[in-house]
Amino acid sequence: MTAATEHLIGLLLGTEEDWPRAVETIAAGLGTFTVEGTEHRLTTERVRIHPFSLRAKARHELAIDRLAYWYHHPREWLKKLALMDDVYLLNSPFTFQSMEKHAAYCAMIRLGMDVPETVLLPHKNPIDNERWPETARRYNDPFDLHAVADDIGYPLFMKPFDGGGWRGVSRITTPEELDAAYDQSGDMLMHLQEALDYDVFVRALSIGPETMVMKFRPELPMHDRYEVAHDVLSPRAGRDAVSITRTVNAFFRWEFNSCEMLASGDRLSPIDYANACPDVAVTSLHYYFPWAMTALVRWSAFCVATDRPFTAHADPTPWFAIADDPDRTQAERLEAYRDLADDHFDTERYEEFREVSVPHLDEVVHDWVSSDDFDDLLVQTVRATYPEAEHEQFLAHFRGLTGMWRDDQSTAASA
Ligand SMILES: Nc1ncnc2c1ncn2[C@@H]1O[C@H](COP(=O)(O)OP(=O)(O)OP(=O)(O)O)[C@@H](O)[C@H]1O
Ligand SMILES: [Mg+2]
Repeated sequence: MTAATEHLIGLLLGTEEDWPRAVETIAAGLGTFTVEGTEHRLTTERVRIHPFSLRAKARHELAIDRLAYWYHHPREWLKKLALMDDVYLLNSPFTFQSMEKHAAYCAMIRLGMDVPETVLLPHKNPIDNERWPETARRYNDPFDLHAVADDIGYPLFMKPFDGGGWRGVSRITTPEELDAAYDQSGDMLMHLQEALDYDVFVRALSIGPETMVMKFRPELPMHDRYEVAHDVLSPRAGRDAVSITRTVNAFFRWEFNSCEMLASGDRLSPIDYANACPDVAVTSLHYYFPWAMTALVRWSAFCVATDRPFTAHADPTPWFAIADDPDRTQAERLEAYRDLADDHFDTERYEEFREVSVPHLDEVVHDWVSSDDFDDLLVQTVRATYPEAEHEQFLAHFRGLTGMWRDDQSTAASA
């Protein structure tokens, strides 16, 4: 019997301790698994930052990134890995650097999705380039900001074209607020977007072909934003939420992304679809944290064990062929995109892998979430995140919600 092939997964981290510890524990618990007659095992390593030669050979087979969106050095390390070492990346910085929120809106509009009316404004502040005044004098058209806003209609949102983390986001109800927000935008390049009324705000977290659509309440503090609620969308909107999310992810080759949609009855409007390093903290995801950690390990295991080819760049051609086909309805297009997305993610093979190669993973996670080690992770995370006076309250909150997940899984397993 030959020894199991070891696959090293690199974790690129900021300050968080919760999800890396979860991934390390679950990957170890998964142990040896078999894919089409060959044995495999995952090992994990937290990536450290130091000088690297562009010719150095990467040791990792796959990297999960939650850092490179903010820091250049790890971002360039990931690019080197993609170009020189065929390392599989969640996510590729190539797609995210060139394809931010604005690019996602453009692609989604071309794909026929119901993105609210959005206008890109020129910079408020002059650009810091000695040739800019002359270029601006010759080519920058004067424009009437109030007229742009009137065309869209109040209320509006002004937000950066590449936003994230609520930076520079404002809700605008009057021309005075509009002027103030534009003045404050300074060097940021801003969208002006129609504000939609909605019944439910949902966030869909996707890891490879796995998607969890969750009710989200952006007005509440982070620990309360995800609400544990099932069937919050109509059946039509529920299916569309998954289809739209998978479509955009497969289109851009994003594998680890959280996508925001506003739902009104059957109508679904995507508003934020490019989150390069989605939040997967236990303090945000609580009930959904074990699912997310399971999916991260399962998808990583699938990619390395099946030697899934990694493609750094998107190919819009087949998607636009469907988008531009006048003989299809939008519902038919969405189904066709979903088929393309399933091809891209190799969904059928993944489902088989899930059932045949790693059927024990769910139990590994359930056992861990029931263990003292998981409770210790909650204790440590709460201590690191909240003031001492609030420790007890938050510990009870997260113990309650993760306990609920555990009970729901036990019920589902025995049903
Ligand atoms: N068109 C819109 N209609 C209604 N609400 C909106 C719209 N655009 C943004 N919002 C609200 O503003 C919030 C922040 O907007 P957006 O998600 O685009 O910015 P962000 O910087 O990416 O924030 P985050 O990182 O929290 O997702 C949204 O969660 C939503 O509550
Ligand atoms: Mg958002």
